[in-house]
Amino acid sequence: MTWSAAQYLKFEDQRTRPARDLLSAVPDLPEGAIYDLGCGPANSTALIVERFGAARVTGVDTAPDMLAAAAKRLPDCRFICADLSTWEPEAPAALFFANAVFQWVPDTLEVLAWLSDRLLPGGVLAVQMPDNLTEPSHAAMRETAAEARFAAHLADAERLRTPIPPPRRLFERLAGPDRQVDVWHTVYNHPLADTDAIVEWVKGTGLRPFLERLPAALVPAFTDAYRDRIAMSYPAMTDGRVLLRFPRLFLTVRRMPETP
Ligand SMILES: C[S@@+](CC[C@H](N)C(=O)[O-])C[C@H]1O[C@@H](n2cnc3c(N)ncnc32)[C@H](O)[C@@H]1O
Repeated sequence: MTWSAAQYLKFEDQRTRPARDLLSAVPDLPEGAIYDLGCGPANSTALIVERFGAARVTGVDTAPDMLAAAAKRLPDCRFICADLSTWEPEAPAALFFANAVFQWVPDTLEVLAWLSDRLLPGGVLAVQMPDNLTEPSHAAMRETAAEARFAAHLADAERLRTPIPPPRRLFERLAGPDRQVDVWHTVYNHPLADTDAIVEWVKGTGLRPFLERLPAALVPAFTDAYRDRIAMSYPAMTDGRVLLRFPRLFLTVRRMPETP
């Protein structure tokens, strides 16, 4: 799957709000490295740098277009190209921050457990993942993909994003005598200009694997069929705008500081 920084940043304010909310749940940290995992175009990294300074912050991402945009935005930060399924930090970290990336990483729970084991005492793993696979915005992708004219090309598109682990599994796998776990949901309601704006939003993320798998000639027909479903599910408000409901799951794991 390829990523476009320009498409993603069309909704920068709305997409960065959960990163801001997640960072506000991170307590003071010990000395040590800070990683912004799935840093994208560095909109989340910028918040981390604002709070902790650039010197110890590294952004990690797989997408060349995102990494180029990130390096341009924050020239004093280090950015590296690596896949979170296999990436290993050089040393235990003070913070692993991951806003809107782990929904794309297979074996999410095991990778999160692995990272939790690489926290410094007092260090934090802070994660936000969209919990929107059952929202109309995403159900409409699957329904459109199931239409006979598209189905042959899209058999595996949906599997790219696996369901996120439910809160109970997060507690069972990640909590422990020296690990404090917190899990909560926030439902954002984004007023957007119109139906097309919802389509533009998901073109930056969830719709990409569907569109990339289709022959170019079928992309307009798929997009139109998807847009028709979105128009049915998100009727205009009295001011003409539409409201995109967007539930997100937040998780923090804190390794308890060592007591003297
Ligand atoms: C939705 S963007 C999030 C950007 C930013 N963190 C934010 O707060 O808005 C997801 C990013 O995760 C990256 N990504 C997806 N799968 C990845 C993986 N397996 N390893 C590293 N980065 C990945 C994508 O390239 C993309 O830049």
